[in-house]
Amino acid sequence: MENRALGLLILLPFLLNFFGTLAAEETCSGTVPMRRRPETISITEFGGVGDGRRLNTRAFRNAVYRIQHLRKRGGTMLYVPPGVWLTGNFNLTSHMTLYLARGAVIKATKDTWSWPLMDPLPSYGRGRELPGGRYASLIHGNGLRDVIITGDKGVIDGQGEVWWNMWRQRSLRYTRPHLLEFMHSSDILISNVVFKNSPFWNIHPVYCNNVVVRYVAIVAPHDSPNTDGVDPDSSSNVCIEDTFISTGDDLVAIKSRHHRPQADRLHPVFRILHRKRSFGRNPEHLRPEHEHLQHRHRHPHQNQSRQRRIHKERQDIRRQHA
Ligand SMILES: *[C@@H]1O[C@H](CO)[C@@H](O)[C@H](O)[C@H]1NC(C)=O
Ligand SMILES: *[C@@H]1O[C@H](CO)[C@@H](O)[C@H](O)[C@H]1NC(C)=O
Repeated sequence: MENRALGLLILLPFLLNFFGTLAAEETCSGTVPMRRRPETISITEFGGVGDGRRLNTRAFRNAVYRIQHLRKRGGTMLYVPPGVWLTGNFNLTSHMTLYLARGAVIKATKDTWSWPLMDPLPSYGRGRELPGGRYASLIHGNGLRDVIITGDKGVIDGQGEVWWNMWRQRSLRYTRPHLLEFMHSSDILISNVVFKNSPFWNIHPVYCNNVVVRYVAIVAPHDSPNTDGVDPDSSSNVCIEDTFISTGDDLVAIKSRHHRPQADRLHPVFRILHRKRSFGRNPEHLRPEHEHLQHRHRHPHQNQSRQRRIHKERQDIRRQHA
């Protein structure tokens, strides 16, 4: 591993403790305020159908295009009503709120063949799993400001199984998609939504500043490969709070790394505050219960002893909170 990155990783637990004790009352509140948008549009106005069968990719893309080009002062909320909204990948835009009503599920299509590809990240120089490009995240944002993803416990479901099986059968052609990725973005708030069965990592802010993840549940089966919860990557001011995460890999993994030995772009990660106050047993349990600061960073080489250790830690945590 790169020396500077390693140094940061070693320092992080101390920094986290430092923030934890120095600023016991510090919360993510105010880092990125929840905003009311003066305008609301619904996905149904763009031909969206929440029947779980019809594809809504065009509806989502058209709705975002409308927000981007009408540039309403104060921004626009895109409302997703109850229903199952099957979709392929779509991008967000600045000054928008994506709102998932209670009972709303944004569900990724299982059509992996037509999934769009993107360039590798500059600091990686290749896909995280495989050489070449990488599949775009289901929901993606690049160069954005002031974006809120929220709702009333609506669900973003990656239907990751089809991707996990490709990984197991070694038939992946490129690196799997994240459920949500922001690149070069700032003032992002993710709150009151459930992330489920991501093909790969769930939430990946990279080269970002001011990102808040709170009152969120992130779930995937314990044997699902690489379904990390939140991976703040080469980003600053990322605050994760009161969040329930139960996945197949790391809960929160802080990254500032690359795979090119001579990479010219190393972004430091700083001021990551992970403040966990609840560890419910299912996504309904999002109420603060315990002050519980927890941090886990990724060991560069997966191996059995690591897997066993993580498994044991998870069992301990579950026992403590049962
Ligand atoms: C989404 O944004 C990426 C840039 O990050 C771009 O390459 C891609 O074409 C965009 N996709 C759509 C459907 O607009
Ligand atoms: C396996 O992971 C553990 C950390 O859990 C580490 O100490 C050990 O060196 C690793 N072994 C190998 C062979 O990478």
